[in-house]
Amino acid sequence: SMKIVDKIDILRSSLEPYSRSEKTIGFVPTMGALHKGHISLIEEAKKKSDFVVCSIFVNPLQFNNTGDFTNYPISLEKDMEMLEKAGCNLLFLPNADTMYQNPVRTKMVFEGLDNVMEGTHRQGHFSGVGIIVAKLFNLVQPDHAFFGQKDLQQFAIIQQMITDLSFPITLHCCSIKRDEDGLAMSSRNRRLDEDQRIIAPKIYESLILTKKMLKKGESVEKSQRAGLSHLDKYKEFETEYLEIVDAATLQPLDSKFEFKKIHKETKIAICVAAKLGEIRLIDNIIID
Ligand code: PAJ
Repeated sequence: SMKIVDKIDILRSSLEPYSRSEKTIGFVPTMGALHKGHISLIEEAKKKSDFVVCSIFVNPLQFNNTGDFTNYPISLEKDMEMLEKAGCNLLFLPNADTMYQNPVRTKMVFEGLDNVMEGTHRQGHFSGVGIIVAKLFNLVQPDHAFFGQKDLQQFAIIQQMITDLSFPITLHCCSIKRDEDGLAMSSRNRRLDEDQRIIAPKIYESLILTKKMLKKGESVEKSQRAGLSHLDKYKEFETEYLEIVDAATLQPLDSKFEFKKIHKETKIAICVAAKLGEIRLIDNIIID
């Protein structure tokens, strides 16, 4: 059955037998309020490693908005049940004092990757993500780590950090799990009221529409405008961005470009962030 650990020394001693042997450790960091998207990462980790570690820690360093932090959903009992059922071997469940005994003075900058999209709308967010993920990597020392495409920019930043700092870890990007109506699963979805939940799938629709326009041969600019206006039709949405970017570099594509000309060399991602009331949702699709 699943072992639950809240102290760093116990975590290290529990993992020692695996790091000393040929057995591989797979790691899935989360902030809890788990859903099927998180569980799909655990399942992927089970396939690719001998021992699966999950962490649940709502990392204060990565929240740029106090309300978002204090209202972040918590469902520990259910989380533990889901993890156990998925075959997770160890759950690391530290509290804030354990993780941040002393004030953190290190900051991380991801040049060129954190000055677009989420980075411009969430000051300090990616520094906080970098710090906690680096810290967890040092504590768990996994062979494989599993992240969701749902947070595409986060994935790109962690990949860059692994390369820049020579973490001996193979990163895996797992596909986005959605509800039947297309809404990307997210812990924050539980905060949506009934009416917000009904129109939330428009976010995914706006991505599909933008993709269709691009594939039809419309310019980046026109396709982007079509996607944005799909959300603008509903006064409930406050759209922060809808960007058509190079999936590898996250840089916006030249607005005059046309899909047929660029698609051959470049993998394209369409990324969106929109607020419904206080709840900020993100989604993306990669065009294959
Ligand atoms: P959290 O939002 O809990 O997400 C944990 C992991 O689950 C991330 O890699 C995320 O991309 C993935 N995920 C979320 N929704 C998903 C979905 N619908 N389908 C597939 N995967 C999904 O991301 C974080 O936590 C934090 O920033 C963290 C990395 C834990 C650092 O604090």
